[in-house]
Amino acid sequence: MDSFSTLIRTASHEQHMEAETSTFMSDLLGGRLGVDAFTRYTEQLWFVYEALETAAPALAADPVAGPFIQPALYRLGALERDLEHLRGPGWRASLTALPATEAYADRVRECAERWPAGYVAHHYTRYLGDLSGGQIIRDRAERAWGFAKKGDGVRFYVFESVSNPAAFKREYRELLDGIRADDLEKQRIVAECKRAFALNTAVFRALGEEFPLSA
Ligand code: HEM
Repeated sequence: MDSFSTLIRTASHEQHMEAETSTFMSDLLGGRLGVDAFTRYTEQLWFVYEALETAAPALAADPVAGPFIQPALYRLGALERDLEHLRGPGWRASLTALPATEAYADRVRECAERWPAGYVAHHYTRYLGDLSGGQIIRDRAERAWGFAKKGDGVRFYVFESVSNPAAFKREYRELLDGIRADDLEKQRIVAECKRAFALNTAVFRALGEEFPLSA
């Protein structure tokens, strides 16, 4: 039987393609959108990571989610520096979540409070993605809008405390493989991962509506 890390990656492959090729992501990566669209996207990420990371300390001792909680991954501080750069010192006052973002953050909080294994699905979907495809997004953003390499504006994509991302991802997959869950619970985690992807895609859809390309 496949390892759990292989299972979750394979099972979410289709959703991954869908997210990656969404109109908003394609336009963003294709350099067809302005920095305002990138900024709005970064704002939405703030709400997601606020939910993920506010919940994290309470889960640190949980037998299922605990091993995944690693401050080296935390992104909220980096997002706040990026937003300060993108929006200016008053960024917090003008920060708003799209309804799709609200729904995503709500689901993360719900899992964190009631179902730690479901929280792991959200943790995996975000952090492993940020360590992977996130690097492509950073590269495009630096070129398109002239951010300093790994500097303000794209700090979210820079994991200062992860010196070897490939090794980190390997270890992360080992954590997934050792997760304390039976087969049925593993299936539920996979389903939650698909839901996490769908929640991301819904945010992209909403952003796509807010930033349509002028024909
Ligand atoms: C245009 C946007 C994206 C690009 C270019 C991209 C690209 C990639 C690439 C190249 C990998 C493989 C890395 C590896 O095997 O080590 C990867 C993995 C991953 N991506 Fe994305 N991605 C994008 C968007 C997303 C989104 C929106 C999510 C979810 C929120 C996501 C979640 C993941 C996850 C969880 C993995 C790890 C898969 C695994 O090895 O288990 N990605 N991505």
